[in-house]
Amino acid sequence: MNKTLLITGGAGFIGSNFVYHMLREHPDYKIVCVDCLTYAGNMSTLAGAMQNDHFVFYKTNICDRAGIYRIFETEKPDTVVNFAAESHVDRSIESPEIFLQTNILGTQVMMDACRKYGIGRYHQVSTDEVYGDLPLDRPDLFFTEETPIHTSSPYSASKASADLLVQAYHRTFGLPATISRCSNNYGPYHFPEKLIPLMIANCLQDKPLPVYGEGLNVRDWLYVEDHCRAIDLIIHRGRVGEVYNVGGHNEMKNIDIVKLICDYLGKPYSLITHVADRKGHDMRYAIDPTKIHRELGWLPETKFADGIKKTIDWYLENRDWWQTILSGEYRNYYERMYGNR
Ligand code: NAD
Ligand code: TYD
Repeated sequence: MNKTLLITGGAGFIGSNFVYHMLREHPDYKIVCVDCLTYAGNMSTLAGAMQNDHFVFYKTNICDRAGIYRIFETEKPDTVVNFAAESHVDRSIESPEIFLQTNILGTQVMMDACRKYGIGRYHQVSTDEVYGDLPLDRPDLFFTEETPIHTSSPYSASKASADLLVQAYHRTFGLPATISRCSNNYGPYHFPEKLIPLMIANCLQDKPLPVYGEGLNVRDWLYVEDHCRAIDLIIHRGRVGEVYNVGGHNEMKNIDIVKLICDYLGKPYSLITHVADRKGHDMRYAIDPTKIHRELGWLPETKFADGIKKTIDWYLENRDWWQTILSGEYRNYYERMYGNR
């Protein structure tokens, strides 16, 4: 089968891992990557893919309707996977508007292109954050696909809005769409503003490790390759119109993750600095992945103990990648976000 798969946001963390996953697992597919290269997109991340004849890159914003339509006319994709988004909760608290533009209106443009040019499958990469949070004292509760949408941050509200729009396009226009809602990912190419890569990069520079509040918030961490496998399964075998939750059954407190990173790198806990909490900070995320396991046979394969070592080793071996990022716009962001915290 010769498929043409269009991936948006492929120069970011999960999108790039998905590009490499698809080139490896489906060498007969053509992969068309669309990314406008915001601060979070990085061409050096895609250097390996650029050498592959089955890969083509377009520097285009998903909100640019004419630009997106031109790409559809040229490439005629049969499957679209939409990763492109503003993805950082803290930035969404600082400036919500770009989140609404990219995450909602950009999604609309992508789906309009799918309707106009025809498509076999549109897949929306969403997040467990659309379900809001769970209390710490109810470890028996998990997010299922039936859990009501209940958002906390401008980021999660924008992702939930996009999900509702995808479901509306499926019902109203018959768009063959699926949605996945995944828990927190970690792994290579993770932008160092997010918890795990930020703590690794700061540890390696002997800088303070800024833990929000007491660090008791819980996230359900999944190695990025496991997420990529889940999306691969959903676009090939998932049922149109369905939502699939993806999670690792791997709940960890932030403070425990930070200590684990210190231990692995031989750094003292005295680097840990408790700083002012995030506004509206969600307490606990925990996914029930029964549906994707039952319907598609998906299970996470990478244990956290192994995945976190692989991840830290990757940051040790790829200092150029993250040091280049730290020397750019990121410095201003870091000063704004952590300067007076
Ligand atoms: P990221 O911030 O690392 O990458 C986002 C990419 O999208 C970047 O390459 C950026 O340049 C690109 N982009 C942003 N705005 C764009 C626009 N208007 N047009 C074209 N490209 C644009 O994000 P990520 O962590 O890889 O997340 C990817 C997707 O997965 C997002 O939709 C996010 O909501 C979702 N998700 C992330 C996680 C996580 O733990 N990181 C968990 C669940 C779901
Ligand atoms: P993050 O990686 O931003 O992902 P999300 O908020 O989407 O889950 O944050 C993960 C957790 O780590 C979250 O509870 C906030 C916390 N955190 C810190 O304690 N310090 C930090 O510097 C950052 C970026 C996050």
